[in-house]
Amino acid sequence: MIDRPMPAPLRRRVAPAAAALSLIAVAAAAGVSCALAAEPGVDQLLQTALAAKADPKHGHVQFDRHCARCHGAGGRGDVNHRVPVLAGQRRAYLVRQLAALSGDQRESANMHRALSVAELHDPQTWADVAAYLEAAPLPPHPRTGDGRALGLGEATFHVECASCHHDDARGDDDGLIPSLRNQHYLYLLSQMRRLAELHRHDMDENIARLLRSLKPDEASAVADYLSRLRGRARDDPPTRDAPP
Ligand code: HEC
Ligand code: HEC
Repeated sequence: MIDRPMPAPLRRRVAPAAAALSLIAVAAAAGVSCALAAEPGVDQLLQTALAAKADPKHGHVQFDRHCARCHGAGGRGDVNHRVPVLAGQRRAYLVRQLAALSGDQRESANMHRALSVAELHDPQTWADVAAYLEAAPLPPHPRTGDGRALGLGEATFHVECASCHHDDARGDDDGLIPSLRNQHYLYLLSQMRRLAELHRHDMDENIARLLRSLKPDEASAVADYLSRLRGRARDDPPTRDAPP
């Protein structure tokens, strides 16, 4: 937890951030999914996929055939090309991203091409692949940042991000807010920038604004702090890589 005075820039942002979050709390209490105003198509596909009985063995076969060349064996990601770790990520979040990436709700030329294969248009296949990935062994060494500003990263995370992603960054229990553990530093940082630019078209503008308000040193510090959090999202308390 935070054991030092909060840096001045964080103090200045607390009030607006708290106001935005109280709106979100109201939305959450009313049963509205936190911060998502999804296009009906994506939500419908998500519901269909989540209702399917998933077959992780079939998911494993499909993953090895269509995905591993970029995402690495077992979904450990590719640090040099900003390809995310998928192992251990929440199943519902993975399915939702596949639904968004198979249409035009989230930009990514690589993923649009990868999902253009006919057999990957099927929500059942997304459910199978996501079930395989959620349970896949965690990658041993996601790449971290330089470790120079971890106090700032931790403080920024707890003030600005933990209300949605949870104090231990495991994501929400419904599974639509992603775990931010076990993820490569460069991917986290590049997604924070891209989310700020609304490359996911159904993202809540408040989250994009929050991410835009981070100074470059705060953004890299949060990504570095997060890239050191380990542990499976649902049950384990996280462990942390030591600073260099
Ligand atoms: C040509 C390389 C390539 C292939 C093949 C590929 N991916 Fe991706 N994938 C990427 C990249 C790059 C991203 C990051 C996109 C971005 O920057 O927003 C990504 C993002 C994702 C995400 C979003 C992860 C997150 O944390 O939001 C999911 C889920 C995903 N891929 C699943 C798959 C699956 C399943 C397959 C196989 C059916 C696959 N990918 C095949 C390159 C690829
Ligand atoms: C109001 C809730 C909320 C807050 C506050 C919030 N996020 Fe998120 N975040 C989300 C949701 C929801 C998504 C998933 C969006 C989607 O479905 O594409 C997300 C996605 C992300 C992703 C993409 C993960 C991936 O695997 O691609 C990153 C990185 C991220 N958030 C970092 C942050 C950081 C850092 C902060 C604080 C500075 C933050 N978020 C604050 C709700 C929030």
